[in-house]
Amino acid sequence: MSSTSTPTSSARPSCPRPVPFQRTTASVSGAAAVAAAIAAGELKARGPATRRCEELLARALGAGAVLMVQSCTAALELAMRLLDLGPGDEVVMPSFGFASSANAVVLRGGVPVFVDIDPATGNVDPDAVEAAVTTRTRAIVPVHYAGVGADMDRLRAIAKPRGIALVEDAAQGIGATYRGRALGSIGSLGALSFDATKNLTSGSGGALVVNDRALVARAEALRDYGTDRARFTRGEVTRYRWIDAGSNFALNELAAAYLAPQLEELDAITAARRLVWDRFHAALGPAEWAGHLTRPVVPGECRSNAHIYAVTLPTHAAREQLRRDLGALGVEATFHYVPLHSSPAGLRHARVHGDLAGTESFAARLLRLPLHTYMAPHDADRVIEALLEVLPTAVAA
Ligand SMILES: Cc1ncc(COP(=O)(O)O)c(C=O)c1O
Repeated sequence: MSSTSTPTSSARPSCPRPVPFQRTTASVSGAAAVAAAIAAGELKARGPATRRCEELLARALGAGAVLMVQSCTAALELAMRLLDLGPGDEVVMPSFGFASSANAVVLRGGVPVFVDIDPATGNVDPDAVEAAVTTRTRAIVPVHYAGVGADMDRLRAIAKPRGIALVEDAAQGIGATYRGRALGSIGSLGALSFDATKNLTSGSGGALVVNDRALVARAEALRDYGTDRARFTRGEVTRYRWIDAGSNFALNELAAAYLAPQLEELDAITAARRLVWDRFHAALGPAEWAGHLTRPVVPGECRSNAHIYAVTLPTHAAREQLRRDLGALGVEATFHYVPLHSSPAGLRHARVHGDLAGTESFAARLLRLPLHTYMAPHDADRVIEALLEVLPTAVAA
């Protein structure tokens, strides 16, 4: 779905200091916590480190309940099981997103219905969602692209009166807010990712945020092999039994041990990334005013977590030229999602509602700049200088 660019040999010799697209957020105290858990033999899933992550995350999100799971993909699958999604049921979502939201629907026999985005943010267009809703619509899945909240007020106003569930794909959303509320904590369910490319990471990992209290007990059972093991662990029942058709979705305890200290450092990690994001944004204003690119838009009601800094170029050719030229200067910039509706599985399993021209154009013109938690100001400046140097030629291409 996403890919890194290959530096080309054209244009110029070699750059002084290559700037990688990404660096995984690391945690020294996380590594120590993993070693301590191994030494203590604390390896069983749903152990103390998992409980610590759930507490810290619930506090950070201000959410009802948090269940640590193996990935955001697992959280989305769990969400669709919880909604008892079945054959023929429809789920409206943006085509500009990751395969996981669509898979979660298709794996239960449902049909993803892809709609267009707002080209300013890359987030789903509420008008397109409303037009796509039918009597078969069971859920709407907004993707908070780049850690910028989708228009949750409008989406809630569409979903609530019709009894449609709102499931947030907040894979990129940790540390970001919409009207002061954490992404993932607004819909009835939310899914977060702690994959290695995210602001915080456990290698692979995720969380299901259960904001609808009525769903918590069943969510626990579906995560825990379809048993009431969580109630047993809390002493609420004397033995645990098989009560539902579930699976084993729990996060590996060592991954939880690694993640917990990062959750404690969430504000500092987000602040470090925002410094880089702000530096790019200030420096690229004149290029936008010259019509050479468009900078990302963060609506006033949103606070981004600086997960991604992506610009759009006037044309696909300009994006490709700029990507190659930056690569030749040692600056690794990348495109992002191939729209799901035009992907092979999308063509087989989903349907489209309305015109997706905005999605196709956005995906073709989007360029993500390198951004990670440890990017020093001089590396951010290297990216800016390289970009401003080659941008006019790329745009003229
Ligand atoms: C929007 C979105 N949803 C879901 C996922 C899947 O997350 P995970 O790798 O934790 O399963 C990703 C991964 O990058 C994503 O970007």
